Amino acid sequence: MDQNLRPRRLRGGNTIRKMVRETRMDKSSLIYPMFVMDGMNIKEEISSMPGQYRYSVDRMSAQLELLQQAGVSSVMLFGIPDEKDEVGSQAYARNGIVQRALREGRRLFPDMYFITDVCMCEYTSHGHCGILHGNDVDNDETLKYLSEIALSHVEAGADMVAPSDMMDGRVLAIRHKLDKNGHKDTPIMSYAVKYASAFYGPFRDAADSAPSFGDRKSYQMDFHNSREGIKEALLDVGEGADIIMVKPALSYMDMINKVKEQVNVPVAAYSVSGEYAMVKAAAKNGWIDEERIMCEMAVSTYRAGAQIYLTYYARELAKCMDDGI
Ligand code: PBG
Ligand code: ZN
Repeated sequence: MDQNLRPRRLRGGNTIRKMVRETRMDKSSLIYPMFVMDGMNIKEEISSMPGQYRYSVDRMSAQLELLQQAGVSSVMLFGIPDEKDEVGSQAYARNGIVQRALREGRRLFPDMYFITDVCMCEYTSHGHCGILHGNDVDNDETLKYLSEIALSHVEAGADMVAPSDMMDGRVLAIRHKLDKNGHKDTPIMSYAVKYASAFYGPFRDAADSAPSFGDRKSYQMDFHNSREGIKEALLDVGEGADIIMVKPALSYMDMINKVKEQVNVPVAAYSVSGEYAMVKAAAKNGWIDEERIMCEMAVSTYRAGAQIYLTYYARELAKCMDDGI
């Protein structure tokens, strides 16, 4: 056969395959989401997320130690308070759960990079991501609270804040608040392209944050939309977002790619709780190869255009990256 175009030439062995790879991953791009809760001596497995736990502040350091040893140096903290109320006051309390975790984490792990999720749903009695007016979340009223939460996190030692509430104008409000209080250099990673997704189910069990009525569709995005995601991303960049996040990751690779092409700030992608739970469940049944699926999901997220990857598999992935997968 006379044929000179043979793509298979570059697939003939491991060395050449690795040489021509287009996507290379690095542990420094990983962020591990971690749940901290009020109380003492608690390490509680999340039933819908096997291998993931809620930690009280006195028990979280063992996990941070393991992450550090694996070469994962960034975490995203989520707080689960004992007390919830209408206005989520534990979210901005000086001695709130995230604030205490930050002070302790900072003290014991000075080299770790601490990012905090800024939202209200884990702290409000109604489980919505903001302040209610009747049955609706009041956008502008909520902005005051979000900026207060962000400031309290930074004052307790957060290196970066990540608002996930999807209120309009929250990046600007937080930026102003931080700047006015002498934190001009603290970056904001915006959950800008965040869809109203059933993939968050296990997280809401984990954080006890499901809305007590209705849903989040009046603030999180409709998953039928794509150009709207670019609008959200551009607005947030205009308001001063330093990093734009797309969430979830697995079903939203088109959005990761579009944001990367059309927005000139770093792009993060969050492989959310439901993605993790699906892989775990199928692997437990022996239906898929967990490690290979985990790697393939990660590589395709980076291939789509993410520079930063948030995943509950961060520690296991770091190991795969060491081994060159
Ligand atoms: C808080 C928040 C959620 C997630 C991250 N921040 C839940 C939600 O919006 O309902 C989801 C993370 C995951 O599912 O892993 N707003
Ligand atoms: Zn929320």
